[in-house]
Amino acid sequence: MTDFYENRAGLDTQVLAQELKKRSSLWQEYVLLDEVDSTNEFIKKMEKKEGLFVLANFQTHGKGRQNRSWVAPKNSSIFMSICLKPTKNGRLSWIPLLTSLALFRSLESLTTDKIKIKWPNDLVQIKNNEQFKFSGILVEMIDEYAVVGVGINYNQKNDELPIKNATSLKTILSGEITKEEIIASFISEFAALWQEENLAAVWPTNTSIRDYKKNCVTIGQEIKAQLFDKDIIQGKAVDVLETGELKVETGSKTVNLSSADITLSH
Ligand code: BTN
Repeated sequence: MTDFYENRAGLDTQVLAQELKKRSSLWQEYVLLDEVDSTNEFIKKMEKKEGLFVLANFQTHGKGRQNRSWVAPKNSSIFMSICLKPTKNGRLSWIPLLTSLALFRSLESLTTDKIKIKWPNDLVQIKNNEQFKFSGILVEMIDEYAVVGVGINYNQKNDELPIKNATSLKTILSGEITKEEIIASFISEFAALWQEENLAAVWPTNTSIRDYKKNCVTIGQEIKAQLFDKDIIQGKAVDVLETGELKVETGSKTVNLSSADITLSH
């Protein structure tokens, strides 16, 4: 068996092209960089085109949500950004949620442990009722385009993970599935989902809302929500609304959250 955990090679552009072709992905055009500040920043400066995506083996200034940084050793992670041109028929607030749904669908059959979406758009492994994050999404708007940044932990060692409740795909993949296969599987799934949504008369479509909610672990849980103005809300998450907001019942009131850091309250 090859040293799957430790062998950190950069992405192979030919293998990736083959994997995309194999899946007849609607999106096949990409730029692969060995090192970049941030794939989101790179794509913002490029000539934009729906479905174009940028990949890197390393980011020197990777960005996370709420001005946090996103850091991972070279070749240990998937760093990518995709360019979308949303129609006016939809809710931009759903782009991160739809991205997490596509990533969920593309990985569901490749993992041994249960995975779920944690509202709004993290992908987590569920183990002994705990949640371990292995992917994050950052969407930024520039003119009429959305830049969708996706970071996936692939084979970090435990001491390289940024937070306690984090993991990387290596611990849950059902075999030696390469980064190229994961990227191609996600890109083809996302392209198909996005095409369907973006061309719909109104999006998100009911099918996507239903599927997102079905696979969102946050609904039904007692949670603590840290708002970005530092307020904390504690209560039961009961729904994800058409706006993409999380509906939380605190006992005394109902609060709809548009963005927050969610932890389970024990
Ligand atoms: C989060 O905070 O959970 C979102 C993290 C998003 C990270 C990805 S990695 C590729 C893309 N480029 C960036 O600088 N950020 C996103």
